[in-house]
Amino acid sequence: MAQQKPALFIIFGGSGDLAHRKLYPALFNLYRNEYLDKHFAVIGTARRDWTDDFFRNTVKESLKKFCEDDKIVDEFVSHFYYQSHDVNDSKHYITLKKLAEQLNDKYELEDNRIYYMSIAPALFGTVAGHIKSESLITANGFNRLVIEKPFGRDYETAQKLNDELSLTFDEDQIYRIDHYLGKEMVQNIPTLRFSNPILETVWNKDYISNVQITLAESLGVEERGGYYDGAGALRDMVQNHVMQIIAQLTMKKPTVFNSENVHAAKHDLFASLKVLTSNEVDDNFVRGQYGTNQNQSEISYREGLNIAKDSQTETYVAGKIMFEKGDFTGVPFYVRTGKRLSDKSTRIDIVFKKNETNIFLDSNDDIKENVFSIIIEPDQGYRLLMNGNKIGMESGHNTFELDHGHTKQQLEKVPEAYERLIVSVLNGDQTNFTRFDELANAWKYIDVIRERWDNQEADFPNYRSGSMGPSKADELLAKDGNEWIWKG
Ligand code: BG6
Repeated sequence: MAQQKPALFIIFGGSGDLAHRKLYPALFNLYRNEYLDKHFAVIGTARRDWTDDFFRNTVKESLKKFCEDDKIVDEFVSHFYYQSHDVNDSKHYITLKKLAEQLNDKYELEDNRIYYMSIAPALFGTVAGHIKSESLITANGFNRLVIEKPFGRDYETAQKLNDELSLTFDEDQIYRIDHYLGKEMVQNIPTLRFSNPILETVWNKDYISNVQITLAESLGVEERGGYYDGAGALRDMVQNHVMQIIAQLTMKKPTVFNSENVHAAKHDLFASLKVLTSNEVDDNFVRGQYGTNQNQSEISYREGLNIAKDSQTETYVAGKIMFEKGDFTGVPFYVRTGKRLSDKSTRIDIVFKKNETNIFLDSNDDIKENVFSIIIEPDQGYRLLMNGNKIGMESGHNTFELDHGHTKQQLEKVPEAYERLIVSVLNGDQTNFTRFDELANAWKYIDVIRERWDNQEADFPNYRSGSMGPSKADELLAKDGNEWIWKG
């Protein structure tokens, strides 16, 4: 594998948890698999007063569980440099710039820079402003901004943040990360849809009865209470990951599968969401917060670190999302996500309409709806539920499943979401990043629900740790005569 474009990564928040958990392991794997070679360097910045060596050791520590070969790890971390940095201090950007120039020469980086924001969102605008005012932007190479979620807390703050960033970076230089778009099975959705006529022809409201998207987690909020209690599941998972999965499932076929056309298709899609009125929220969305488990061995959400004892923050959301126009008008997209559920499971179940004219249908017989499932994690694969004869002499029908799971060897080849996304940044490919207009429309959809919930006290906790969430989530589907396919 040839080295991708040379580049300097400047990671703001280089001492942070995300950088150590996700970014450094991803960069390391790219290095090990020769996507990065001699021509890359990393500057980690943070407030603390660290030396390069100390920083390198922290990076090595984060790689321990991935690699036991010290030699390659040492080679890799020798590309890492540390810069103690106060984001508000112009002088620090000048020092940073000098170091960037030195490394540019030393590693022949062709003036290519990737500015990676792995810091508190409140600082995104400040840092971007200084990148411009202290002239860190290079004239000849590429300058790309990578930005982690959350991108705003609502439409208004997202717009404000975007305005701030736009003073330094153009839209085609901004890579907004939604790590779900880096997942193997999520990236594969358009390929499935558009390269299999057997799916493409039935992928619309004439054949699909409803779509179910589940992002279930078995873990709780753990140490992230400080962030999470001010966010909640609606902002943390629905506004971004769930919405982007819906877009992968429903955007119109682009003429060519490239960033420009994909984002144009997603734009139209997000613009056609049927935004709820405040009065419609209660009928279409359910919120929940976990309590302890059955034998009380787990703490409830409210007992977690940095969480208000009377917190009204939801750790579970189920909802019914619809479109106003297009190929999926009238098709309910039932979505649910929650912490401390019975299992970790990320999956999509597409339920097709029953064949009402089935010639075999009689009162003793049960022809079922076809269900096509895309299993995203932790297993990966596809299932198709079909109808057939009962085996043997007995008359009647039965369902059977076509089941494909990626093998262990195949799974070993699957890169982490961050690896794919970093390669896309190096290649200048924005297809699997979110464009501002998509995000803005997703926020507009979410804001109505948020506002309604913020003005009504919830009766929390309302589901047990280790359960399937609040029972109201089942009622949401039952009202339409449907039920969740995945039952935990
Ligand atoms: C993150 C959320 O975006 O996604 C976390 O902030 C959540 O709260 C995580 O746990 C889930 O990601 P994954 O890849 O483990 O499904």
